[in-house]
Amino acid sequence: MAEKNQNQYHPPESNGYHRNDQESLHTMEDEEAKRKKRMKWTIGIIAFAIFQVVQGLFFILVIMKFKSPKFRVGDFPVQTLTVETQASPSFNMSFVAPIRVKNTNWGPFKYDASTVYFTYGGVQVGQAIIPKSKANFKSTKKIDVSVTLSSANLPSNINSNLGSKLSSGVITLTSQGELKGKITIMFMFKKKKSSQMNCTMAINTTTKVVQSLSCK
Ligand SMILES: *[C@@H]1O[C@H](CO)[C@@H](O)[C@H](O)[C@H]1NC(C)=O
Ligand SMILES: *[C@@H]1O[C@H](CO)[C@@H](O)[C@H](O)[C@H]1NC(C)=O
Ligand SMILES: *[C@@H]1O[C@H](CO)[C@@H](O)[C@H](O)[C@H]1NC(C)=O
Repeated sequence: MAEKNQNQYHPPESNGYHRNDQESLHTMEDEEAKRKKRMKWTIGIIAFAIFQVVQGLFFILVIMKFKSPKFRVGDFPVQTLTVETQASPSFNMSFVAPIRVKNTNWGPFKYDASTVYFTYGGVQVGQAIIPKSKANFKSTKKIDVSVTLSSANLPSNINSNLGSKLSSGVITLTSQGELKGKITIMFMFKKKKSSQMNCTMAINTTTKVVQSLSCK
């Protein structure tokens, strides 16, 4: 037995242990290696599962969230503005309305043709036609429409104090409209959405600038 245990690569004297010790050491090393491997697999599987859950949550909470696009009118320079405050109070105005459809969804918003109404004292004084189109994913569709406004059709109850309002030097207008459409995410998930515009703007009749503009 002692003869067998002595092989020339590992003489017991030189390395200080017998073959039996080596064998048990080997099995311990093997066990250790197996354990480490199992650990690696377990960690890998857990990491993968967490990754899947996070990805799923991201998909549900961020990608699949359908948000109403923002529909508004931006600031603009007034091209022409004529105001009559004396004999028969009236105003005429023209400008290019920068209408914006901001789509924050991860998919395009296709909308139907619509109309934006400009009102003075709650009565329509002009309009802008919005053609059917779409706002691409995560982008703002810009529609610039020429608009002419006239107080000519205002009813007498509003017209009666138009003179004093115009004398104050400010014309307050609102623009209102609704855009109806559909959002498509990942080419297959669709949802109908509509966006309301409700903006109020004050135009200085002396300087002919929009001195305040706010949208709801
Ligand atoms: C606005 O236009 C109408 C119709 O064209 C006209 O009768 C009115 O006098 C104009 N008002 C001003 C202030 O130019
Ligand atoms: C119109 O603008 C002028 C110049 O900025 C300003 O002095 C004036 O007060 C404004 N008018 C009104 C009614 O705010
Ligand atoms: C638009 O906003 C005004 C207040 O700025 C509010 O009185 C009005 O009811 C709103 N109109 C719509 C259609 O939401």
